Amino acid sequence: MKNIDSYTHTRGESIYLDDIPVVAGTLYGACFDSPVAHGKLISIETAEAAKCEGVFRILTYKDITGENQIGGIIPDEPLFADHHVHFCGMPIALVLADSDEHARAALHKIKVNIEPLPVITDPREAAAKGELIIPPRKFKIGEVDTAWAGCEYIFEGQADTNGQEHLYIETQGAYTIPQENGVIRVYSSTQGPTAVQRAVSKTTGLPMHQIEVDVTRLGGGFGGKEDQANTWAALCALATHVTKRPVKYSLHRMDDMRMTGKRHPYSSDFKIGLDKDLKIIAYEATFYQNAGAAADLSPAVMERTLFHCTNSYFIPNVTATAFCCRTHLPPNTAFRGFGGPQGMFVIEAAIAKAADELGIDATVIQQNNLLVTGNELPYGQKVVSEANECWNEAMARFEFEKTTKAVETFNASNKLYKKGVAIMPICFGISFTNTLMNQSRALVHVYTDGSVVVSTAAIEMGQGVNTKILQVVAQTFSISPEKVRVNSTNTYRIANTSPTAASAAADLNGKATLIACETILGRIKTVAAAELKVDESAIELKDEFVYANGTKTEWDWKKIVLTTYNKRVSLSEHSHYSTPDIHFDKTKEKGHPFAYHVYGTAIVTATIDCLRGTYEFDSVNLIHDFGTTMNKIIDKGQIEGGLVQGIGWMTLEEVVYDKNGKLRSNALSTYKVPDIYSVPKEINIGFLQTQKDNLAIFRSKAVGEPPLMYGIGAFFALRNAIKNFNPEAKTEFNAPMTPERVLMNLYAKKLVTV
Ligand code: MTE
Ligand code: HPA
Ligand code: MOS
Repeated sequence: MKNIDSYTHTRGESIYLDDIPVVAGTLYGACFDSPVAHGKLISIETAEAAKCEGVFRILTYKDITGENQIGGIIPDEPLFADHHVHFCGMPIALVLADSDEHARAALHKIKVNIEPLPVITDPREAAAKGELIIPPRKFKIGEVDTAWAGCEYIFEGQADTNGQEHLYIETQGAYTIPQENGVIRVYSSTQGPTAVQRAVSKTTGLPMHQIEVDVTRLGGGFGGKEDQANTWAALCALATHVTKRPVKYSLHRMDDMRMTGKRHPYSSDFKIGLDKDLKIIAYEATFYQNAGAAADLSPAVMERTLFHCTNSYFIPNVTATAFCCRTHLPPNTAFRGFGGPQGMFVIEAAIAKAADELGIDATVIQQNNLLVTGNELPYGQKVVSEANECWNEAMARFEFEKTTKAVETFNASNKLYKKGVAIMPICFGISFTNTLMNQSRALVHVYTDGSVVVSTAAIEMGQGVNTKILQVVAQTFSISPEKVRVNSTNTYRIANTSPTAASAAADLNGKATLIACETILGRIKTVAAAELKVDESAIELKDEFVYANGTKTEWDWKKIVLTTYNKRVSLSEHSHYSTPDIHFDKTKEKGHPFAYHVYGTAIVTATIDCLRGTYEFDSVNLIHDFGTTMNKIIDKGQIEGGLVQGIGWMTLEEVVYDKNGKLRSNALSTYKVPDIYSVPKEINIGFLQTQKDNLAIFRSKAVGEPPLMYGIGAFFALRNAIKNFNPEAKTEFNAPMTPERVLMNLYAKKLVTV
């Protein structure tokens, strides 16, 4: 089934925040944000700005009617700077004017006096100075300290990954409209309507039932709007609360890039030990996470780094330690993979380092250590593994030996172009790592004409979750998809929502929808059984008809629905789903946090131009574990998009802050994201379809985040290509591998290894 949004998307009719008709009297907001990364805020001068054309009012922390606090996990983030600024881009004042242009023009007249304080941008420096947001965490299995003695080979090194700008096509924004009795309706481009509702409630002082959050869809979120949509919604809602006027604020691209957090950069140390058969016996990793100036989601992101620090491999002795380091950058936040990719890069670097030193292909070590069913991960969960299945299928389907032979032949006969191949296996846990978040609700109404409307907590952001929800309804009732509508996500219909994140939206909301539909269906069947005078177990609904004892009756869907209503039986249901069997004990760092894992194996082939350092990806051939996919087109789209986004992170995209904490890569002219030319020339996706039972909706495994991590293979394919040009190059494990870095490595004859 096609994505249900494709019709309105292609006609330009889909409603995003900026498409909501503007109400008369709307004020436009614009933020004056800190030009300094760290300092004492001595004074804010707004008198001149207030005199500018069209300016209605200027708000600062003094105007906050509730608490000046938007921190989600830890209350450490003021909405407006009060006495200190903690990062460049921190909101200081909000100008409200009769147009966006007037609001922005007035910003230039605001003056602040800030006494600068020392700026930290490096997580290791922060850790050394004790600037930690939470105490360090440690995952441990076996005994690494004693295991080293049994290792034939031990290697150590450092592996660093940089941040990543979300670059959702729709920037952050909100539009708030006063309703009667002080209620505020909040339109927000958010993945977390309840997070927005809470932030608005806290900053305005209004109870949550005074705040209605409504979301039609997002032009992309990628994690960037899980928590960081709160700021703009809180600013607009506060302004509406104090002015009683509608307020709109939709960020310009450069403002969004400057003021919002990104994927967390990490700097990490590793030590890996193997026995003579190349089994990984011991692994030690220390992660320094660059959290930015406030907690935001960093502690949760850091936790997922630990969960995924051994990727797809079984390692009996592991100690992994992580530090959540406070720096003076905008608070970094969720980004597809949520810390998992950063952990996985480090183990892949460790394996590559071992392979370098042993003079073998990394693939030998990778394959030799893949997880098998029953293996225990460092956090205590035993896996149902598809790692070998994906690997073997990829080797066979894409004729890996032929590929490597062809690459060798190419390299032997070409001086100035070199190819490299790398394999990237993945293993990603599905569920919010915070167990309590794994719950959802759905509201289903069947109308008397047989049409159906469904509301859930899921946010459509391009990933196709609404289509999957619709499929659940249509399939369960056995009615045509045209009979079903998916409503906007609204906190008055569905309360206390978890954000659409952790790739779990289709599972959590789909299962809640399934429960609601099955409940209504049960009632309809009871009515049908009475009407047809047969046992309820003999009733079935198929293709919009009632079947009794396997025989089609003349009762169609419309007739049985209307009859159910006439019998005064409810055609509505509000259902609740919570993932069974998951738990995690943070005091022991052990448990069973994930409903299941998603596996896959990608083979990445790259060609570099050894004169210029530029490169192309010839192909990415992958086998992905979909379980039993419920929507092939959407799932394939998620793989392609995730893969390319991962390649971007690993190769082109370079977030640059200077030592004063100012973002230098602050526009699309200085920050390169993948375009059509950076997409691999060929992407072949093989479906590992398994019939095994799992906790996914219709056994169709979550697909949102895992494919991003195939992109890590791009780094290692380039690294191998460099080695084929310059065997002396000891390319550092420092992503992104930009063309500049490739060039430096191609001609680096004797880099000192760490
Ligand atoms: N796909 C599109 N097109 N746009 C997005 O913003 N976000 C990703 C992924 N795929 C995203 C996307 C992220 S970070 C997550 S967690 C999942 O979608 C969330 O949606 P799901 O739970 O329905 O998979
Ligand atoms: N994944 C994504 N988002 C989250 C998570 C998670 O595990 N926990 C809290 N927000
Ligand atoms: Mo995705 S990073 O969990 O929004």
